[in-house]
Amino acid sequence: MKRLKQHVIWGQRGSFILAATGSAVGLGNIWKFPYITGENGGGAFVLMYLCCILLIGMPIMMAEILMGRRARANPILATAELCEAAKVSKGWTIIGWMGALAGLVILSFYTVIAGWTLEYLSGALQGQFDGLTGESSQALFDGLLANTDQMLQWHTLFTAMTVVILALGVSRGLESSVRFMMPMLFVLLLVLLGYAMMEGEFVTSLRFMFSFNPQDLSWEAALIAMGHSFFTLSLGMGAIMAYGAYMPSNQSVGHTVMMVALLDALVALVAGVAIFAFVFATPGISAGSGPGLMFVTLPVAFGNMSAGLVVGSVFFVMVMLAAWTSTISLLEPGVAYLNERFGLHRVLASLLLGMIAWTMGLGSIWSFNDWAEKPFLWGKTWFDSMDFIATNIMLPLGGVLIALFVGWKLRDEHLLHELKYESSWLLRWWRPVLRYISPVAVLIVLINGIFPVLR
Ligand code: PHE
Ligand code: NA
Repeated sequence: MKRLKQHVIWGQRGSFILAATGSAVGLGNIWKFPYITGENGGGAFVLMYLCCILLIGMPIMMAEILMGRRARANPILATAELCEAAKVSKGWTIIGWMGALAGLVILSFYTVIAGWTLEYLSGALQGQFDGLTGESSQALFDGLLANTDQMLQWHTLFTAMTVVILALGVSRGLESSVRFMMPMLFVLLLVLLGYAMMEGEFVTSLRFMFSFNPQDLSWEAALIAMGHSFFTLSLGMGAIMAYGAYMPSNQSVGHTVMMVALLDALVALVAGVAIFAFVFATPGISAGSGPGLMFVTLPVAFGNMSAGLVVGSVFFVMVMLAAWTSTISLLEPGVAYLNERFGLHRVLASLLLGMIAWTMGLGSIWSFNDWAEKPFLWGKTWFDSMDFIATNIMLPLGGVLIALFVGWKLRDEHLLHELKYESSWLLRWWRPVLRYISPVAVLIVLINGIFPVLR
């Protein structure tokens, strides 16, 4: 397979970990994880989620990094080259193609929600949350959802922010931005945690997040936890594979994966604890409030606490950074492909793909107003269809294929050179889990995602 460009390698220590953590930590941690934890009963769900990260997420993340680093190419060319090396059917290249496509699909609706956080950031800075009640907050959110122009403006801005970083290139764009944005994100998260400890219902929140009730263990919650472990670690679509191509050869993949998974889980848990500490400290609002937790419930908490203006602004800056470092990883596989395969300049490649995702995003914006009653697939709105196709079908399918490909098709001689720096206990565990446990578990998620009848 032809390749025009030689790959850059991120020289600075920690760049890969920061970039992969940047991809992993996103709306999935700060927006989705807290509310699905709230809906599924707290502690028991957190425990299931952590098990899934360990048994499904980490082995597959390791497989993705190894593939990318072994081939030192974007996911499409990487799978093609590995197929050639291992002498297996070219059909496995579907991993790369579906991944790049999934990136576009996810990006198209992710920037819409990320756009809401920009609107809320500007609202927080202007003191709009002051004295909000449950009803007035809901009205504020409904007002945004009804306002196509406003959503379009933020969606456009967020897509443009993403394109700019990608256009700047692998070192000056991706590497520099994560080296600046990730430390800042961690600092802001610690500020929020500190404030939640001092002013929030911290202990109640801890008890909610970590007290374990066996009756909350359910099949349904386990499936949600499995699916989420995938989304939260950015697996199944080549984002981590694309970054793996830039990882220095002498770094241990196993240690890196443990670090990224740990940081991703920590951010989700700390964000959850802080959010619930604020919510429990505000009378009259409840924790299990679904997707509206961040956009309806939390602003009420900000509007009724001392220093709410600062805390609210800090919070939404943090969410913006988290989402931004994720959106760039969604587009990188496609941009790297166009650049390496056809020599298309990264500026053009990112503009082109950014415009495609932006256009698909229009349907997601209208799904909240003009198209709210218009079913697209399986009676779902455009937004829900995109989310369903990507999260319930493409990511798990990609994950199964990656686990099978690396677990069964790549023989040791193809990986040996990559595994020099791994500890032997890790290798002893990794292969069998990747061969037998991860694919079966992901297959169950996939089947369940497609046929909700099993629930
Ligand atoms: N991991 C990101 C989150 O938790 C979402 C994402 C998925 C990003 C797939 C890139 C690729 O929000
Ligand atoms: Na995540």
